[in-house]
Amino acid sequence: MKYHILTFGCQMNVADSGWLDRSLTSMGYEKTPDEDQADFFIVNTCSVREKPEQKVYSLLGRLKEFQEKKPWVFACVGGCVAQQVGNFFFQRFPFVRLVFGTDGLAMVPAALQRLEKDEHLKISLLDFQDLYPERTNHWPDKLGPQAFVNIMQGCDNFCAYCIVPYTRGRQKSRSSAEILRECRELVDRGVKEITLLGQNVNSYGQDKDGQEISFARLLREVDRINDLKRLRFTTSHPKDMSPEVIKVFGELETLCPQLHLPLQSGSDDILKSMGRKYTSSKYLDLVEALRSVCPDLALTTDLIVGFPGETDTDFQQTLNVMNKVGFDSCFSFKYSDRPGVRSSLMQPKVSEQEKTLRLDILQQLQEEWTRKRLESRVGRKDLVLIEAPSKMQKAGTRSWKGRDLGGRVVNVGLDSSDDLTGKILEVAVIRAKKHSLEGEVIR
Ligand code: 5AD
Ligand code: SF4
Repeated sequence: MKYHILTFGCQMNVADSGWLDRSLTSMGYEKTPDEDQADFFIVNTCSVREKPEQKVYSLLGRLKEFQEKKPWVFACVGGCVAQQVGNFFFQRFPFVRLVFGTDGLAMVPAALQRLEKDEHLKISLLDFQDLYPERTNHWPDKLGPQAFVNIMQGCDNFCAYCIVPYTRGRQKSRSSAEILRECRELVDRGVKEITLLGQNVNSYGQDKDGQEISFARLLREVDRINDLKRLRFTTSHPKDMSPEVIKVFGELETLCPQLHLPLQSGSDDILKSMGRKYTSSKYLDLVEALRSVCPDLALTTDLIVGFPGETDTDFQQTLNVMNKVGFDSCFSFKYSDRPGVRSSLMQPKVSEQEKTLRLDILQQLQEEWTRKRLESRVGRKDLVLIEAPSKMQKAGTRSWKGRDLGGRVVNVGLDSSDDLTGKILEVAVIRAKKHSLEGEVIR
């Protein structure tokens, strides 16, 4: 049986789909990049904002049409929309035969075998578990140079706009022994860079009543793994960024000078109604403390425009904080009501037109900062981990795409018939493009 997998949303979903891929391949299912060829589809969904959720519905409407030629075709829907909409999928899209939430993922391979045997069966795996659901890994022979390792599931913060605590459930930290075992195994299999993943990694272990090590300690332990070259983590909540974590930025050899630290808004009133539990000046203090231990830190963020009650002055404050920090890049979104979250009841709503206007202004300002930050890299030396041949290959020359320590994309020209994937090259940055850098190999 062949399957086609589609993934929306955050890196947790990408990592979950990766696990599913490896498991299904080890069971003899064949992955196809071609929708026409698929006997079944797996759609891993995101409901964090309105747009990705709408995309899922129109996608399922389209995929359903493959049943006309191949009546046995069916779909499995997982992730946050599945958790939220649940069994309603079976009514709205009868060709959906499996829905699974994040805690149900581990049971999907076995469920697929049951679906194959009984064509009348539909299965729902939407239950929550109160412990991190461990799952067996089936690694392929060849792994890429980078890997993601989940360290927790869910979130306890209940920011007013956010659906995640409802779809992914309460925070459940994975045991540090399991995390370290997985990291060591990946490095033994040739992985050079590990990104620790969680909705709010800084509060790692806090759900374990003192029985688990802190996030800072976990970073220290992973850093000690022989032959690991680079360590990153995402996502962090500013309110939980402890002095210990700030300190390790200046100390650990493998920890990359890069941090994604969602600000969401620069207005203290809006931060308060969002329930973020920090002020803009607290955020700026954090940035200063981080930059004092790690001056080269590449800082990225998430911002929401048009949260209920956001005035022009509030919005201006967001722009002010952006100018004070100078983010390397940012993900910015128009606020959208999500079902059941606190802010959906908050008034007054900002008009769609105003949200569009603010998003435009914000994104233009960020473009300027992105350009400035990239230009400031020109003339510098950096270590670039090569990920793949570059799409920007010019005729007759070879070039490679990689990332510097700050996580910026660097295209490196190098005429070599060897496969350079996974190599770390010392590079001089020679040019800044709109969203990437160009470099030359020093040696
Ligand atoms: N509307 C707009 N953006 C949202 N995000 C989360 N919920 C919403 C919402 N209801 C954004 C936040 C978060 C990112 C993953 O998505 O900026 O950090
Ligand atoms: Fe959502 Fe806030 Fe949790 Fe992030 S920290 S997942 S924004 S509730």
